[in-house]
Amino acid sequence: MLSLGVLASGSGSNFQSIIDNIESGYLNAKIAVLITDNPNAYAIERARKHNIEILILKPKDFPSRPAYFSHIALELENRASELVILAGFMRVVSKTLIEKYPNRIMNIHPALLPSFPGLHGQKQAADYGVKISGCTVHFVDEGMDTGPIIAQAAVPAYHDDTEDSLGARILKQEHRIFPYAIKLYSEGRLSIEGRKVIIDADRDDSLLVNPPLAVIPDIC
Ligand code: GRF
Repeated sequence: MLSLGVLASGSGSNFQSIIDNIESGYLNAKIAVLITDNPNAYAIERARKHNIEILILKPKDFPSRPAYFSHIALELENRASELVILAGFMRVVSKTLIEKYPNRIMNIHPALLPSFPGLHGQKQAADYGVKISGCTVHFVDEGMDTGPIIAQAAVPAYHDDTEDSLGARILKQEHRIFPYAIKLYSEGRLSIEGRKVIIDADRDDSLLVNPPLAVIPDIC
């Protein structure tokens, strides 16, 4: 069974969707630990409810960013976490963690990468006036939201969308594609060639259970 280490800073609705997909049997995984940088994160409550170990690690208690992330790596390794999940973790992960978990860290971003990386992807897309936006699950490399893309889902964007209205539409899809990407990983169906992620589609059972979605706005 795949052991996950989850890092989250906020509400943790993606964390919750992973918990729910484990409990429903869709995902054959367990969550070894929730690590947060924010003592007020609602994700902590969610972990408590599901008896998941919680570690609150504040960057200011460490001498540097590399030291902070190498400590996180140590805590994850101590719990035999095989895959690291960034579920709304609002910090750029440093090399000291990435080197310990090469192509074993997944992030969810609320835009269709490579468009609108960085903070407030939903606002960037709404302000830009795109007609389609969405979300992206990708492996984490040293860049800002630049790692190989595993899954994406699209949603329509409307002229009167705000960060919140577009964000809510995107978030629903995040809750579907993150567990889907983790499932593919847990079944050994992901490989990386250059910057492309190859999905072994010979076994397409999970595609049927929880397919990635592409929504084209109705133009009629
Ligand atoms: C999501 O929009 C995710 O894409 C971004 O941070 C947000 C986290 O939301 N990285 P939640 O804490 O999972 O509800």
